[in-house]
Amino acid sequence: MEPTNHPITAKAHTNIALVKYWGKKDEQLIIPQNSSLSLTLDEFYTETSVAFDDTLTTDTVQFDDHLLSAQASQKITTFLDVVRELAGITTRANVITHNHVPTAAGLASSASGFAALAGAASRAAGLTLNRRDLSRLARRGSGSATRSIYGGFAAWQMGEDDQTSYAYPIAEQVDWDIVAIALVLTTAQKKVSSRDGMRLAVNTSPFYPTWVQSSQADFKTIETAIASRDFETLGHTSEQNAMRMHALTLSSDPSFSYFNADSLKAMALIRELRAAGTACYFTMDAGPNIKILCQGQDAPTVMSQFQQVFGPESVVLTRPGNGIQISD
Ligand code: ADP
Ligand code: DP6
Repeated sequence: MEPTNHPITAKAHTNIALVKYWGKKDEQLIIPQNSSLSLTLDEFYTETSVAFDDTLTTDTVQFDDHLLSAQASQKITTFLDVVRELAGITTRANVITHNHVPTAAGLASSASGFAALAGAASRAAGLTLNRRDLSRLARRGSGSATRSIYGGFAAWQMGEDDQTSYAYPIAEQVDWDIVAIALVLTTAQKKVSSRDGMRLAVNTSPFYPTWVQSSQADFKTIETAIASRDFETLGHTSEQNAMRMHALTLSSDPSFSYFNADSLKAMALIRELRAAGTACYFTMDAGPNIKILCQGQDAPTVMSQFQQVFGPESVVLTRPGNGIQISD
């Protein structure tokens, strides 16, 4: 395989999991304990360009205009090693990446980050992967990145090995008016990474086996709700699934939580809005920021409530986003 003689750029969006991935059965290959399902979001994304260059002796990574130290770029170098092995090359690479999403704040920068890196690096290394194989490659960087190859609703089938653990599209063109309102309560980086948090749950939470079972049931329920455009079932089941995931953090040893006081305040407000008749539901990843699921018709009401409480700059309207785009 011959690397390209020019940089390749890829753009990938983050996704919000409606059925969460929380726990691995193979840490090395990132094979999960449960299948997961997500919605790709248009407002948050990563753009990454990669060029393999014979004159380099190490990989260099420019991350949001800062040059990373070798230690800080270790995860990216490890990922590039997977790409090099696939392409049969040893050449080092220049990576330039920009996150249009806060990094490590529970807004899924690892999903868009590793999906974009997988797309740009594989193409720059001379590989032409189909989207299933690209999703398998992105998985090696970060589990949630597996799903960010596709737009709209996507699923990651857990599988049992490298070949069978990949994402597939459920509905790339979402033709119903579903939105996710992101409440950016803090952009501080989390103390417990998703990787460490889920490992602790697998190893110590007595509820872990129940999570695996119930998330399987949630997957089927949401799949059916998408097919029949049943927003209330989709919203309700997503919210339950998120809270069950967070119950694993509370029941780990040592116990920890991704909630902060504002997350709890936001959840209470969503419950109040719902009690007053607005169909809105929350979900939350590994960080205190909340995503509110609602239908487009209700978005102005929901947004104005949250803007009043948390300030206009904290409330970001996102719609279903596209799958990965790779420049030639
Ligand atoms: P988040 O909630 O933002 O996904 P995680 O702790 O799960 O937080 O993942 C953050 C990690 O994802 C970063 O420390 C980094 O290793 C990786 N990451 C984020 N953005 C990028 C990017 N643009 N390119 C490569 N890796 C990235
Ligand atoms: C709560 O994909 O960031 O967002 O595979 O260890 O990199 P690693 O973890 P990561 O975890 C995502 C956890 C989650 C749920 C989800 O996106 O499915």
